[in-house]
Amino acid sequence: MCGIVGYVGERDALPIILQSLKRIEYRGYDSAGVACITDNGIEVYKDKGKVDDVIEKINYSKSISSNSGIGHCRWATHGAPSKTNAHPHLDGEGEIAVVHNGIIENFQSLKEELLSLGCTFVSETDTEVIPHLINHCLKNSGNVEWQLKEAVKETLSRLTGSYAIIVAAKGFDGLVAARKESPLIIGVGDRENFIASDVPAVLEQTNRVIYLDEGDLAVVKNDSVYIENGGAKVTRAERLISWTIEDAEKGGYEHFMLKEIHEEPKAITDTLRGYLTEDEITLGIDLGIEGDTKGKSILMLACGTSYYAALCGKHIIENLAKVPVQLELASEFNYSDFVLDGANVVVMAITQSGETADTLMALKKAKRYGCKTVAITNVVGSSATRIADETIYTGAGPEIGVAATKSFVAQLVIFYLLGLQKSLAKLPEAAFLEHLEELRRMPQIARLVLDEANGNIQKHARYLSKYDHAFFVGRGVNLPIALEGALKLKEISYIHAEGYAAGELKHGPFALLTEDTPVVAILTRQTLGKFDQNASQNIYEKMLGNVKEIKARGAPVIAIAEEGDEEVEKYVDAVIRVPGTGTIFSPIPNTVALHLLAYWTAKERGCEIDKPRNLAKSVTVE
Ligand code: G6P
Repeated sequence: MCGIVGYVGERDALPIILQSLKRIEYRGYDSAGVACITDNGIEVYKDKGKVDDVIEKINYSKSISSNSGIGHCRWATHGAPSKTNAHPHLDGEGEIAVVHNGIIENFQSLKEELLSLGCTFVSETDTEVIPHLINHCLKNSGNVEWQLKEAVKETLSRLTGSYAIIVAAKGFDGLVAARKESPLIIGVGDRENFIASDVPAVLEQTNRVIYLDEGDLAVVKNDSVYIENGGAKVTRAERLISWTIEDAEKGGYEHFMLKEIHEEPKAITDTLRGYLTEDEITLGIDLGIEGDTKGKSILMLACGTSYYAALCGKHIIENLAKVPVQLELASEFNYSDFVLDGANVVVMAITQSGETADTLMALKKAKRYGCKTVAITNVVGSSATRIADETIYTGAGPEIGVAATKSFVAQLVIFYLLGLQKSLAKLPEAAFLEHLEELRRMPQIARLVLDEANGNIQKHARYLSKYDHAFFVGRGVNLPIALEGALKLKEISYIHAEGYAAGELKHGPFALLTEDTPVVAILTRQTLGKFDQNASQNIYEKMLGNVKEIKARGAPVIAIAEEGDEEVEKYVDAVIRVPGTGTIFSPIPNTVALHLLAYWTAKERGCEIDKPRNLAKSVTVE
């Protein structure tokens, strides 16, 4: 998985390409490179490291006169991060340059074929076969543009796997781009055009964007964008992006992650907006299980943080709508003999990026079963939206930090809306209205955690940062939040953290508990007088029992507990206070608190928070 960009226009290409790359560095940051078309041919600058490292190595004193070029930031798949494996890759004559995001599955056999034709390869990448193949497919007839386009088409017909590519060639004043199972957009400017894997790369230059469709091939010049699919010219609508560049910038925060946690209240508000009127929820989609839901069920498919959001969604929808929900990791679903009744199961793919390869594959498999499919995603026009029958958008805005934060909270909001949607929910009117009121309070609740708990959380983060292992425990609707808290801590602070069902610790993990394994326990209960008091009270009592067991084994306990809960103080070592809510809504404040805890712990340990090692924001490989 990588980020690719291209520019063609009248301005200096190099600074624009480098700036665009920096905007999408979250897609990969182990190496980077650019290729510019100059009067003398193609000039390539690339190296191991981040875009800034590569910029430092580019000799600015040598002026590079170029109005078009391509760039790449890499997350290694084939071949370790190195200067030679970094993109762009060239053909043997150095006249065709290619940047690629995806995986060419048949590259080995193509490479052998090209070697037998006398080609020399310098990298270990799958990508390098592409420029060589293009070179071999070039015919000596027609103008340069036509020749290149046809050679790219012929090359693509030989590739299996996934790709978004941009091709630059000596003597051609444009770029050729194509996509299959990897995202690609075109930013439309005034006498200039941009190509990129993702919108933030071009936002500084333009808000006019064309999303390329599966199988599209585009020839982009400074004053024209020509697109064809399956050999026929097609027209793709231009969309106006409402995100501003400020939305994609840090806005005074030290890290994108901290900014994005602080945007969680806004993400809730923006997700509710459009779906929630005075006393009505309109998601504007046909789930196909409205009315009599008997015999009908939902299957959720997701990866990573989105999987934990889905697990929480299962509790929320089953509690509010009483519709059974199953859940599978997309990567497991794809290779299992899942028994699925296509006519009665609605499949929901939860993916903030809309590009996760495992989730896209799972969506396609669900369609083969004949299921109605729904994508829940944050990215307009992403691949998931094209595959699924229906789409529900979360309103989190661009999320740059690799660790998903505000997009997770926005996904939870969609589950509340789904659970409360009248066509599914069988709630009495009074309870429905009471839940709606509670849901509307969530932005304010999230803000209260940010305003009032933040300082206290920083203190506990300093303490947590000294340990190498930690457990996060919860029950019911807050078990997924414990899992999410542990995932967030491990991915950005590198502390080994395990999320566990509190009742399961006694079946193994107790053996690991010592005074050096702090346990973060989610102990929130409902606000007195609110709905489903009995169940909530019961879970709270059970959690207190589990905490006593943990303490008996010598492990320190940090509780996430509601304001005003004095009882909890007796049993734990430290308390992070969050505002009280109805039980089913408690995941919102608890999530904000745990995201902050992970952030401040990682900061205390001096970690590179927005770009944790070995990870990437959007995982477009299986
Ligand atoms: C990557 C990201 C995670 C994310 C997961 C699934 O691993 O680092 O933050 O949860 O992919 O991504 P999706 O876009 O499908 O939600």
